[in-house]
Amino acid sequence: MGIQLSHGRSHLVHGAATLKASITSVDVAGKRVLVREDLNVPMAGGTIADDSRVRAAAPTLAHLARRGARVIVMSHLGRPKDREPELSLKPIVPDLARRVGRDVRFAEDCVGEPATSAVDTLQSGQLLLLENVRYHKEDEANDAGFARRLAALGDLFVNDAFAASHRAHASVVGVAAYLPAFAGELMEAELRALRQALDNPRRPMVALVGGAKVSTKVGVLRNLLQKVDSLLIGGAMANTFFKARGWPTGSGLVEDTALKEAKEVAAEAGDKLVLPVDVVCARKMEAGEALRIMEADKVEPGWMALDIGPRSISLFNQRVRGAGTVIWNGPVGVAEIKDFGDGTKAVGEAIAASGAYTLVGGGDTVAAIESLGLAGRFSHVSTGGGATLEYLEGKELPGIAILKEA
Ligand code: 3PG
Repeated sequence: MGIQLSHGRSHLVHGAATLKASITSVDVAGKRVLVREDLNVPMAGGTIADDSRVRAAAPTLAHLARRGARVIVMSHLGRPKDREPELSLKPIVPDLARRVGRDVRFAEDCVGEPATSAVDTLQSGQLLLLENVRYHKEDEANDAGFARRLAALGDLFVNDAFAASHRAHASVVGVAAYLPAFAGELMEAELRALRQALDNPRRPMVALVGGAKVSTKVGVLRNLLQKVDSLLIGGAMANTFFKARGWPTGSGLVEDTALKEAKEVAAEAGDKLVLPVDVVCARKMEAGEALRIMEADKVEPGWMALDIGPRSISLFNQRVRGAGTVIWNGPVGVAEIKDFGDGTKAVGEAIAASGAYTLVGGGDTVAAIESLGLAGRFSHVSTGGGATLEYLEGKELPGIAILKEA
């Protein structure tokens, strides 16, 4: 019987509002435990450019091995069209072994003889990584036969791949039709953090949403508006809100097709909505350009807003400083170019120092906090990109829905 958590006015109805059964409470000694991780790490020239997802996955795997499980790890990497060698998971093995603190074997395929023979010789406490599940198109198709072949490798299934749980694929969802499905420790940590921030927030609750497009985040904005006390908007998506107010946006990126949605969100938000009041502008989105600070409602022709200005930083920071909970998704400027990273850095610093419960999510935001030296200073940094967004939208994530209830 699941324990229903109270979440006030929330319209969250999905499985994540129910406590899920944890693998930590199951006797795994001698069992073949099939674990879905998200080891979809950025690769550059055959090496891992950022191994945060490997580090995040390691505790679950290390604990399972320590408790005597035969640990079989599956993951996707990239979006291969066929068996693209550069999307093999093999180069991940040394890093995974180092992070887990144990040897990791590798099977050249995730099903068939390479997988079954590797599993047959796997002993308690040993780990095996299977080749990229997306080398088989049946994974994304959530093909039942393929799911059954994967499931045949294990006695228990653990979904620890929060970041892939918005995908109803065979290795995330399908295998749960054939094996009892438990949450891994990373999955639990992600769900705990999201619940803490969304369902049980210390108030005031502030959300900072940035990034380029309103259209990809309108669901998030709408869902968050029902919960937050302040909604701060930065990044290029602020331009769309400016234009919706009838303000000139120069040559800045505006999503004309989302003007109606921006207007609706602004009307719904009322005085919860906090938009930038000044912006850092350049003629081109390039380093070394001349910069000017302009009033947000007076961006001149030929100039584009690429970061929030100093008065906006103060305004945002004031809200953040008094907050009990801050949810942050999306940089407030083009943070990957140093000239336009000041706003993200300053607001990020204020969030980190706020004393609030701080939840950071989304690939670009995580990359920004790493490059701006803010990593390690938040209550929780989600490994999810699309998955975190869908959760923040209040959607049911299929990879969470299939987990057994606690
Ligand atoms: C991600 O990086 O967000 C996940 O690994 C999912 O990857 P996908 O978008 O290719 O399904």
